[in-house]
Amino acid sequence: MSESKRLAAEKAIEYVEDGMIVGVGTGSTVAYFIDALARIKDRIQATVSSSERSTELLRGHGIEVLDLNATGSLSLYVDGADECDPHKRLIKGGGAALTREKIIAEASEKFVCIVDPSKRVDVLGKFPLPVEVIPMARSLAARQILALTGGQPVWRQNSEGAPVVTDNGNWVLDIHNLSITDPVGIEQAINQIPGVVSVGLFARRPADVVIVGGEPPLVL
Ligand code: A5P
Repeated sequence: MSESKRLAAEKAIEYVEDGMIVGVGTGSTVAYFIDALARIKDRIQATVSSSERSTELLRGHGIEVLDLNATGSLSLYVDGADECDPHKRLIKGGGAALTREKIIAEASEKFVCIVDPSKRVDVLGKFPLPVEVIPMARSLAARQILALTGGQPVWRQNSEGAPVVTDNGNWVLDIHNLSITDPVGIEQAINQIPGVVSVGLFARRPADVVIVGGEPPLVL
């Protein structure tokens, strides 16, 4: 799959225009995009990053990273996804960066999503849906998510059994066993639960373009 990821990322470079401030997502597919962006770094003005991990990669290439508050709206955001349906609605957050990703997606005129073919689904929900929660609300949010969706919320922990902590200092619940037939409704409903910071459903603001890596890449 890594070659498909690289091919999708290379194709996304075609959407980068001279002088742009580019929104940059997080994950293994985006890592290929950052490598490609490094080759044309003199053509862009700067970037805005969705995670500490991507910031480190960008700065490692000598690419400037700006605070979103200093830029206003962005012309372009490039990011990966964990699942993508035929309406370009997405599940994101497998890398725990969902909240900053959602903020940048909202701030961007064009969201180009880069995926390998395994990410395409007819109905979202096989990939456990990430929800970022304020730590003290974990148990309350889990109970309400169960009642609301029927899915099984699982507290995300690392291999040592410690909670995964987001760049914002919060925890993640992954909702298993979902079949999301009303993505906009579920996104709105989960967002209403006290203590939920954001949910990794990108339905109200789906991608504008999806690039599926391959020879040649498929642009949807
Ligand atoms: C990060 O939190 C996620 O939203 C990623 O965009 C998503 O998990 C895709 O990651 P890969 O490109 O590594 O598959």
